[in-house]
Amino acid sequence: MRRKLAAGNWKMNGTSADLDQVDQIIEAHPDPAVDILIAPPATLISGMVVQAASHPLAVAGQTCHVAENGAHTGDISATMLKDAGASHVILGHSERRTDHEESDETVRAQARAALAQGLKVIVCIGETLEEREAANTLEIIAGQLASSLPDVITGENTVIAYEPVWAIGTGKTPTLDEIGDVHDYIRSRLEQRYGSGVGKSIRLLYGGSVKGSNAAEIFDVSNVDGALVGGASLTCADFSPIISALE
Ligand code: G3P
Repeated sequence: MRRKLAAGNWKMNGTSADLDQVDQIIEAHPDPAVDILIAPPATLISGMVVQAASHPLAVAGQTCHVAENGAHTGDISATMLKDAGASHVILGHSERRTDHEESDETVRAQARAALAQGLKVIVCIGETLEEREAANTLEIIAGQLASSLPDVITGENTVIAYEPVWAIGTGKTPTLDEIGDVHDYIRSRLEQRYGSGVGKSIRLLYGGSVKGSNAAEIFDVSNVDGALVGGASLTCADFSPIISALE
């Protein structure tokens, strides 16, 4: 009942020359059986939206400010993302939490701002290596879910991405059982807080060193509804097999 989602996070990568990769993805998946989304740097959002005008590929921002506008040099608002044609925004990525000290409370305020503009949100959570080694993973996940998510969300407007910080860009991944345990736990927390209907309808993505060679086995894990992919989303050659593994 939950449609699968292959989401690519380009992070601070890509110039207009790289839009060619998007043309190739569109060509390789003209009528995809899953949702496809790319979050390019803000400079490429409008161009990508034009490219995908007659394709279901969704375009996302990588963060947004809590305010609609104002004196916030270098920031971007949900209104601006929406105006540029984005339909989604990634929030609370661990790189934002670390590089820009974004707290759970900030992420929740960003989510409220984005939802108010009609954007859909992909809220990222995940434990550090120290937290996992101290057997605190589920506690950390519970805290991030409780504090980063607004009180009113739906399966239509919210996606959760579980990204263990230590698995991002490292080539390391949790075992399939570990991924399953966390995703099952996230599902149960969501059902508890938002009720069974909404809790069951929210898509849960796994993120952290997903590639063509491990995508299929990760997508077989219970409560994994897709992936948030970093490095392997930058080229069609790497991203297309991940999309195909979900289809
Ligand atoms: O948001 C995606 C991400 O952080 C995972 O990155 O490069 O490990 O796929 P990567």
